Amino acid sequence: MSHFAAIGRVPGDPILGLLDAYRADPNPAKLDLGVGVYKDALGITPIPYAVKLAERHLVEHEPTKSYIGGHGDPVFGDYLLQLVLGADNPLLRDGAVGATQTPGGTGALRLAGDFIAANLPGRGIWLSAPTWPIHESIFATCGLRVEHYPYVGADNRLDVEALLDALQRVPAGDVVLLHACCHNPTGFDLAPRDWKRVLDVVKARELLPLIDFAYQGFGDGLDEDAWAVRLFAAELPELLVTSSCSKNFGLYRERTGALIVRAQDAGKLIDIRSQLAALARNLWSTPPAHGAAVVATILGDPELRGLWAEEVEAMRLRVANLRNGLVAALVPHGLAGRFAHVAAQRGMFSYTGLSAEQVQRLRQEFSVYLVSSGRANVAGMAEERLDYLANAIASVYTP
Ligand code: LMR
Repeated sequence: MSHFAAIGRVPGDPILGLLDAYRADPNPAKLDLGVGVYKDALGITPIPYAVKLAERHLVEHEPTKSYIGGHGDPVFGDYLLQLVLGADNPLLRDGAVGATQTPGGTGALRLAGDFIAANLPGRGIWLSAPTWPIHESIFATCGLRVEHYPYVGADNRLDVEALLDALQRVPAGDVVLLHACCHNPTGFDLAPRDWKRVLDVVKARELLPLIDFAYQGFGDGLDEDAWAVRLFAAELPELLVTSSCSKNFGLYRERTGALIVRAQDAGKLIDIRSQLAALARNLWSTPPAHGAAVVATILGDPELRGLWAEEVEAMRLRVANLRNGLVAALVPHGLAGRFAHVAAQRGMFSYTGLSAEQVQRLRQEFSVYLVSSGRANVAGMAEERLDYLANAIASVYTP
């Protein structure tokens, strides 16, 4: 008898799978706009200098590699809470917010999903349509009822009225996942007035928000991007936030993030954290330490922190310039107006509006790799390749 004979094959990951296809492509003109990693002008995903300095410090001063606790490094947790909620946030003094360190933002989402499934039985989770595909699979794997609210439709426009209308009908108590900034995959963010309207519905319907905060610093700035999270934390007694250090600290493979819980009071937070530690023990036991130690070293040192903040800002500005550059490169093709949204979107990604078939042609005829949804990783572009890209888009695009 073969134990494994009946096991079939599942399709590769829609985002990570592109990396293999790109690497195997012999065309020297190839362009990787698939997986969401930042690249500099040389096409390299750099390690920020502040990270290098922190690592040097750790090599010399890190006292042990023994296990850290189930919630990870408490120093990292405290600094991350300050980064996300603001250093002067009164919630930090009340003891009603806590961070549980996780393997990246993805780990935080999984922990949140398992927490909801185990402790809030029967609750559904509402995701934007579209959303990051892994949101769909993580929460389904956790056994949650996965539902959707409209966000960006076939016309490639953010539809706030449809979103609010749908939230009005969400059953009381259900969880609604919101993207704090730099919406993945579309790049379309809610304006402050829209966030306030969403907050009103969340309050009225007694929904539990889970805010995914994976791109702090890539939208409008480190503090600006945290505006909605801070608003919700101030206005609501209960809230979940998943924070990632992958992009803004360039720590992708070090898997550094946290699940932040805002509870009614300090006592309830202790109950919730006991649940999280028990769930985490079954998932990964204790989280990987290195990335969190790097983040704690940087955020705990005013000089390193200042250097890091400058580096994040430089990445942000470079992506914003590439957005404008692509629209400018489309001018000679008569398509600048049609793709003006690329300059208005925020963060690493742009929902270009290109169809799956057009994306396929980009790949086959020009070795330009986008996710089949039409998502382009703007942060993967190179300035001197914008004309090539604009020409490729103009060749496959029919309105
Ligand atoms: C992306 O959406 O490309 C990134 O968040 C990386 C990933 O893990 O999918």
